[in-house]
Amino acid sequence: MNLRKAEPKDKKNILEITNLLYLNIPDFVWNTERVVERQIQNGEYFLTEIGGKTVGAISFRQRKDKMYIETLVVTNDHQSEGVGTQLIEFAKKFTKEKRFNVLRACSFYEYKTVDFYLRQGFSLLEKPGIYNNHKYYRFEMRI
Ligand SMILES: CC(C)(COP(=O)(O)OP(=O)(O)OC[C@H]1O[C@@H](n2cnc3c(N)ncnc32)[C@H](O)[C@@H]1OP(=O)(O)O)[C@@H](O)C(=O)NCCC(=O)NCCS
Repeated sequence: MNLRKAEPKDKKNILEITNLLYLNIPDFVWNTERVVERQIQNGEYFLTEIGGKTVGAISFRQRKDKMYIETLVVTNDHQSEGVGTQLIEFAKKFTKEKRFNVLRACSFYEYKTVDFYLRQGFSLLEKPGIYNNHKYYRFEMRI
């Protein structure tokens, strides 16, 4: 399992994998070429490969004094193999390296990922977020 920074040539693979995240919400942007391209250019996208195939991806965004996980996805055929856990471990390291001490993740209710994030050591913030009428959980971890 190899985790590395994404390069412009990875855009197509990343778009394929982020399509798995698609929800029918107005302005759902996380699987769009525009957003993925910008995040790769900013050095905010990382991916996991197994045998040369992209099986997982994570992207980050810095807002004020906090680091946010913007995207997190593992392909269906490689879920529950520890790829997501490895990506979260990397997120903690990345946050620390950038000298932030709070890591946050947001996740639409539809994804049903509460147990996953709690098991990774995040706390669930009390107040949900709302994006175009769709609620999302807000998770936080102190680094
Ligand atoms: C959520 C996700 C990133 C987890 O990645 P993963 O590689 O499957 O996670 P791991 O293998 O490291 O799993 C760690 C544990 O969490 C559990 N888990 C994984 N996905 C889960 C989910 N959606 N809900 C609850 N528990 C989950 C696993 O069963 C595993 O426990 P186990 O070791 O007892 O089997 C992945 O399932 C995924 O991409 N899901 C679809 C997209 C999505 O929901 N992304 C999050 C958007 S914010």
